[in-house]
Amino acid sequence: MKQILVLNGPNLNMLGIREPGVYGTVSLAGIESSLRRLAEQLHVNLEFYQSNHEGALIDRIHAAYGAKDGILINPGAFTHYSYAIRDALSSVQLPTVEVHLSNIHKREAFRHVSVTAAVSVGQIAGFGSHSYELGLLALLRHLEEKGES
Ligand code: DQA
Repeated sequence: MKQILVLNGPNLNMLGIREPGVYGTVSLAGIESSLRRLAEQLHVNLEFYQSNHEGALIDRIHAAYGAKDGILINPGAFTHYSYAIRDALSSVQLPTVEVHLSNIHKREAFRHVSVTAAVSVGQIAGFGSHSYELGLLALLRHLEEKGES
């Protein structure tokens, strides 16, 4: 069974409360239960982790080395400037899909840059909580095509 790490960065624990006009009304727990339902159908195992701390996210990425088949990540604001998270993803070389609830390319200029997208298989942005399900499907398709699990 494929093992996927689902990482969420800063402020994503506030989903449902935080700027609902931008991020919607679904909580992170709601996103996780939708993903769990999808994962059951697809016979994959998900591990969820959210942190507001850069180093804690990096530690989880390192721990995924040799233990996980891929990473689904919403780095939150770290997307736009965390070279350390980018380097962590490069270090473990695990297929990674980056997701965003909002379409970061339609928003403020500082959100148009993702330093982590270049070390990801691809990026899905703008579909609200559904971005995560699309991201999981994309990651699994990539793993199947590459025969990486
Ligand atoms: C986000 C977009 C980021 O710019 C922002 O800092 C977030 C959430 C999204 O999912 O749309 O925290 O990653």
